Amino acid sequence: MNYLSVLFLVFLFFHGYAQAFDYWKISQFWPRGLCHRNPLCVKPKLLEEFTIHGLWPSNWKGPPSCTQQKFNPSLVRFLFLNNNAHLQQVWPSYYANGDVKFWAYEWEKHGTCSNLQQFDFFTLSIDIYERNNLTDILKNAGIVNGKTYNTNIISLAIGRALHVEPQLICKSTSKSTVSILTEIRICLDKSRIPQYINCSLPSGRATCANSIDFI
Ligand SMILES: *[C@@H]1O[C@H](CO)[C@@H](O)[C@H](O)[C@H]1NC(C)=O
Ligand SMILES: *[C@@H]1O[C@H](CO)[C@@H](O)[C@H](O)[C@H]1NC(C)=O
Repeated sequence: MNYLSVLFLVFLFFHGYAQAFDYWKISQFWPRGLCHRNPLCVKPKLLEEFTIHGLWPSNWKGPPSCTQQKFNPSLVRFLFLNNNAHLQQVWPSYYANGDVKFWAYEWEKHGTCSNLQQFDFFTLSIDIYERNNLTDILKNAGIVNGKTYNTNIISLAIGRALHVEPQLICKSTSKSTVSILTEIRICLDKSRIPQYINCSLPSGRATCANSIDFI
């Protein structure tokens, strides 16, 4: 690393990146669960793959501090105009207001608390998302959609792969013991290459019943 980039990192560190919030939380949708009997969903065909909901600067206590900066699509256009970059594929909206509105919402509600520039924030989100493929992790543990699983089985499969406990987010069904998986959240520290950490103690199932319909 040359002198200038060290200087830049030190600058970044002391210039707020370090003190603005405590840790990152990446939240990923399971589209088929999210859209199950959900009239807001307009996607005609749903991926059988987790996609990004958001990357959220978080505090152990209280909300992080954020700015009022508006989303500017031209600042992230390199992430969706060329074929190798694919914001639309990894971070789609399932609702009628569309992708750009969704990215604007996520930037303005969460990205503005990160002390990162817009391009860097979206790039980091994609990096973290692509580092581990939740769809693959579950598949490799024999967990495939279309079946019902004990909630701990899903939690443990991710725990074994990432060495931290995920937060599983569900919606309820008519049966109190079964819920539908809509989302998985995982926390990371703020090191330059963020490392997985446990979100909170106790983390675990968050909003799910004992059994999960992995639709
Ligand atoms: C994740 O894994 C699934 C299932 O193996 C695969 O179809 C998909 O392309 C992978 N996604 C990414 C972003 O690598
Ligand atoms: C996360 O918590 C589990 C127990 O709930 C523990 O076994 C594991 O070591 C923790 N991981 C980290 C990285 O702290």
